[in-house]
Amino acid sequence: MAEGSGGMEPSIRNRIYLDNAATTRMKEEVLQEMLPFFCETYANPSAIYGFAGEAKRAVRLARERAAALIGAKPTEIYFTSGGTESDNWALRGVAETYADRGRHIIVSAIEHHAVLHTCQYLERQGFSVTYLPVEEDGKVMPGTLKRAMRPDTILVSVMVANNEIGTLQPLAALSGIVHEKGALFHTDAVQAYGHVPLPVQELGIDLLSASGHKLGGPKGVGILYCRENLRLLPLLHGGAQERGRRAGTLNVPGIVGFGKAAELAGETLPERMERISALRDHLIDSVLAKIPDTRLSGHRQDRLPGNAHFCFRDIEGESLLILLDQQGICASGGSACASGASEPSHVLAAIGLPNDLARGALRLTLSEETTREEIDVTAETLKEIVGRLREMKVGP
Ligand SMILES: Cc1ncc(COP(=O)(O)O)c(C=O)c1O
Repeated sequence: MAEGSGGMEPSIRNRIYLDNAATTRMKEEVLQEMLPFFCETYANPSAIYGFAGEAKRAVRLARERAAALIGAKPTEIYFTSGGTESDNWALRGVAETYADRGRHIIVSAIEHHAVLHTCQYLERQGFSVTYLPVEEDGKVMPGTLKRAMRPDTILVSVMVANNEIGTLQPLAALSGIVHEKGALFHTDAVQAYGHVPLPVQELGIDLLSASGHKLGGPKGVGILYCRENLRLLPLLHGGAQERGRRAGTLNVPGIVGFGKAAELAGETLPERMERISALRDHLIDSVLAKIPDTRLSGHRQDRLPGNAHFCFRDIEGESLLILLDQQGICASGGSACASGASEPSHVLAAIGLPNDLARGALRLTLSEETTREEIDVTAETLKEIVGRLREMKVGP
């Protein structure tokens, strides 16, 4: 087993964690910045007495940091309970606000369930939804979107990067088509915020969802970026927090943690992308070289720096995950939300993978803490496990 970074408790040292798309380890600096806001500076930032001032200032700083990472204004950032809420709010909010202009929405077929299930809900409310097909590499073709646009289209939602296969989408080309037709463009950036540059203005993004726990921040806190001067009805009704758009007492420690994680991510983004992409490529090359009948899913280059996704022919993904776990390797068969459910992934179906390949899916997602030694151990372990499983299947 690989010896990871020194100085950590043994259980962490002996584990190879390659499921960073499911969640990341919260950074120590993030925790330190959050801690005072639990038991010391615990005032409600909406209060007017002086004691609330520090919490108020901390929320303001977090908003500035969250905005800076995507070149947005702080007033364009709304704190939420995470990616799921932000996606729900963007879709339901736009649908309700602009229903008088049209009732047609377009999303890609490979969106996260936070988007897809919200679309199903909206269909039940009388909206019509087009689910755009994607190419074999997971890309949405601008021409496909162009053909799907209708005079009554009010919103298009295409994720920055897919959570299973990591494919990055041509956002600027897509948003250009959307705006030409006078509709709004939302993107689910939960896997991408803090991992790839996302200049919202250059990319023509009107609404963007992100989540703290995917970039070394806490769980249960996210943002919705909503372009200035855009009308958007609230999803949650109640108090006047977040300028009357998102009710509920602010999760001050979580928001502070989100802001710190965003700041740290911004400071290291280019070097981190380069280092993690190189490790990812080493992993992809090693696995494809060592293990026959293996297919890389997604686009070879246009993918998240930390994402490698393979399909092994004649392998049951679940057995693979269990055997990897026995070797201390944490991996996933697809999205964290889908694991446990044995249905084939809608993403792999959409890229046209036949079931015999889709069943043997494995997602390995790296972080800045991943070492080359961990990658080498993982590739070697995989080779041994896949070989063993295939032998068992063929019999003596
Ligand atoms: C692409 C994508 N969207 C939305 C979500 C949901 O985010 P959260 O866990 O913050 O609710 C996830 C979580 O895995 C995701 O990967």
